[in-house]
Amino acid sequence: MPVTMHHFGALRDGTAVTAARLENSSGATATVIDYGATLQSLCVKDRGGRLVDVVLGYNDALQYESHGDYLGGTIGRVGNRIGGARFSLGGREYALAKNDGENHLHGGPMGFDRRMWSMCAEGDAVVCERLSPDGEEGYPGNLRVRVTYTLTEDNTLRIAYDADSDADTLFNPTNHSYFNLNGGGSAEGHWLQIFADRFCENDAATLPTGRLLPVEGTPFDFRAGKPVGADIGAQDEQLTRAGGYDHNFCLAGLRAAVLRGDKSGIEMTTYTDMPGIQLYTANFLSVRAGKGGSTMAPRGAVCLETQLYPNAMNCYGFPSPVLRAGRHMHSETVYAFACAE
Ligand code: GLA
Repeated sequence: MPVTMHHFGALRDGTAVTAARLENSSGATATVIDYGATLQSLCVKDRGGRLVDVVLGYNDALQYESHGDYLGGTIGRVGNRIGGARFSLGGREYALAKNDGENHLHGGPMGFDRRMWSMCAEGDAVVCERLSPDGEEGYPGNLRVRVTYTLTEDNTLRIAYDADSDADTLFNPTNHSYFNLNGGGSAEGHWLQIFADRFCENDAATLPTGRLLPVEGTPFDFRAGKPVGADIGAQDEQLTRAGGYDHNFCLAGLRAAVLRGDKSGIEMTTYTDMPGIQLYTANFLSVRAGKGGSTMAPRGAVCLETQLYPNAMNCYGFPSPVLRAGRHMHSETVYAFACAE
């Protein structure tokens, strides 16, 4: 179905924000705004045929600008943390903007989620593009980025990333949607399966140390599936430090995770060509009103951020986020929806 565009309010400086709505013939919709190339809403049917908005968000642009938490945003240039907010590449040291103590998080204080993108419809897809200039948040190279959202007839949201740079740089994008497949309430009852035998050990600052730990026999074992909250309160240093799950899982293949709303029956399977996925149980989400009278609260959603492993520039052997000058980067993440009976 054709993409429809509508006005979505304005930023503090008056910049108008636009929303693009994708719809398939069974009535599922996805709405993307050009502020942050953000997924603002994603409505799919529950087992009773009712449409449920399965992502947290706001109803106007100003709220996105005023609040943090990265709701639905496109994260870049590099998702998650870079320890010490620095890295060396090609014999040069680069200092990045610090926004998480001494570290760099989610592309910095003015990451991609806080930028205006140019947005247009291409057939039944929405394409967001921007040029991230050389030096932005400390990164080298002029980086041209394109994020394409497609909603298919079989209720799959596909997010494709494409990028090129004129100098060697880093690129590890993700989408930071907060999923609640019941449409609200605590997400601790959601059933979750993650296809990973290992996860990244974090230090006290939630930075991967470089060690990969087996999930076997730990609260991180989601291989057979269990409720998100089943072991979240366990006396495990990795969990208590982060106030819940905030860890990268090392994926074994393209199928990354299955999340199911215990009340709605809505089931979401995540596929990605990235080797990692950050499970974040909204541990620090501030309590406040969201769109449509909803309330946001800690543990009220699950983020499944597909990515290269965080802190890769400081951890020997992690897949590299380096994008070489003149090389094209393409990556896709797919969230496929179905309904359990
Ligand atoms: C990621 C990080 C978390 C937190 C959230 C957003 O998941 O790992 O520590 O920053 O994003 O608040």
